[in-house]
Amino acid sequence: MKRKSRARIPEGRPLIAPSLLSCDFSRIAEEVRAVEEAGADLLHVDVMDGHFVPNITIGPLIVEAIKRHARTPLDVHLMITDPDRYLAGFAKAGADILTVHWEACPHLHRSVQAIHDLGLPAGVSLNPATPVWLLKDILADIELVLVMSVNPGFGGQRFIPQALEKISELRAMADEIGCTDLRIEVDGGVTKDNAAQLVAAGADMLVSGSAVFTSGDYAGYIAALRG
Ligand code: DX5
Ligand code: ZN
Repeated sequence: MKRKSRARIPEGRPLIAPSLLSCDFSRIAEEVRAVEEAGADLLHVDVMDGHFVPNITIGPLIVEAIKRHARTPLDVHLMITDPDRYLAGFAKAGADILTVHWEACPHLHRSVQAIHDLGLPAGVSLNPATPVWLLKDILADIELVLVMSVNPGFGGQRFIPQALEKISELRAMADEIGCTDLRIEVDGGVTKDNAAQLVAAGADMLVSGSAVFTSGDYAGYIAALRG
């Protein structure tokens, strides 16, 4: 396995990554600028194919357009079947982190290696019903785990509380095998009311879509998430 590449993940904990899924897409450049000025550390970009998840969102062309306006790294969450086919395309479009789903990768080690070969940090995401222990033999090779706290596909869903336990379990497993710099990202139903609990459980990257973009005060909300 090629050496891990952490370069594009900002330092600091917790990192706040607003999910652009809930922004006003007709004004995406302005929205990118606004959340960045409000303190976003990264921009979370949700890619959905209508196959792995029941919704279709954006492809490399839009990622490339976002990249032209972004100053912070693009955290690209691939909710797609057979992601290996598209990794190079998203890397070329400007992704700074590529996350694939455990459930979509029969040869996960190869997918992680392909992301590293593109020079990017690799993330693996778990759906709510997928147990943490399945990552044991890949954990040392990846930079981040994205714990889904809703079923992927849509913004604005209610947080599934078992995610908290999964985050603690994952942090304990990472510590046990010496992966002290593993990033644990949580995605779905994250609000200012559960952020502190998630961080206490071991999460250090918080994705928040609808809560940030409907807040009416991006800076205030991002500060509240950071705690
Ligand atoms: C859901 C996406 C999330 C979504 C989160 O499939 O992966 O990133 O945008 O949205 P909220 O924060 O509204 O649950
Ligand atoms: Zn996401």
